[in-house]
Amino acid sequence: MIVAAVLVAAGSGSRLGADVPKAFVEVNDQPLLEYAVQRFLVHRAVRDVVVVVPVGWTEQANEMLDELVKSFRSVDELLGKLGRPPAGPTMKPLVVAGGSTRQESVERGLAVLADDVDAVLVHDVARAFVPAAVISRVVDALEAGADAVVPTVPLTDTLRSVGPDGLGPTVDRTGLVAVQTPQGFRRQVLDAAHSSAPGGAATDDASLVEADGVRVVAVPGASEAFKVTVPLDLALAEVVADRV
Ligand code: C5P
Repeated sequence: MIVAAVLVAAGSGSRLGADVPKAFVEVNDQPLLEYAVQRFLVHRAVRDVVVVVPVGWTEQANEMLDELVKSFRSVDELLGKLGRPPAGPTMKPLVVAGGSTRQESVERGLAVLADDVDAVLVHDVARAFVPAAVISRVVDALEAGADAVVPTVPLTDTLRSVGPDGLGPTVDRTGLVAVQTPQGFRRQVLDAAHSSAPGGAATDDASLVEADGVRVVAVPGASEAFKVTVPLDLALAEVVADRV
């Protein structure tokens, strides 16, 4: 099974309050985009990586990825001298400009995938520290025959509905989970879902394929795959970046 990853990074990240798009915000002197790309580039189950960045940021992303791939090559040269096999990827990710919604950005990424790709992992770059084990679990479930896979984590907060009259009742969180990325799909299933509802505002891809009647399988996610959203998340990111 040939697997490609589409990493969406074209959001503005306005809730983070930074003066650059979220993907270019640095954590310990490294942009979030670089952390995310690294995880997929070195993963043995992933062959191709496509990165979707905000319009006007493709050049900057290309320069950053050139440097990243160059650093992998120098590590490989060293390994070669030691008679060890290369550890890094050989291909640089493809960079494309995104759209005004996440769904449009995913579609721009899908449009440039190679013809022979069988399965696609769609990942939010905002979840820059996703552990390799989560990527493996999603790919393994696809290999085992699933059409669509999402990583999930248990909820920790007490949940309430809220309406125009204020707080509604507490929602029983038993049986509820939070959904993360990467979400994995057989390529035809994802392409079909996007072509039946193009340019929409779906916040994730699993809900799109489900609307087509596809069954979505859950695998365990990880708390390290949290989404960097608000300024406090950057403090957590600094700690997690050193560990994962
Ligand atoms: O806004 P939110 O945090 O839900 O975005 C999830 C992911 O989708 C982020 O990685 C963001 O960069 C990406 N996105 C995108 N294009 C948009 C909006 C969001 O690639 N127009």
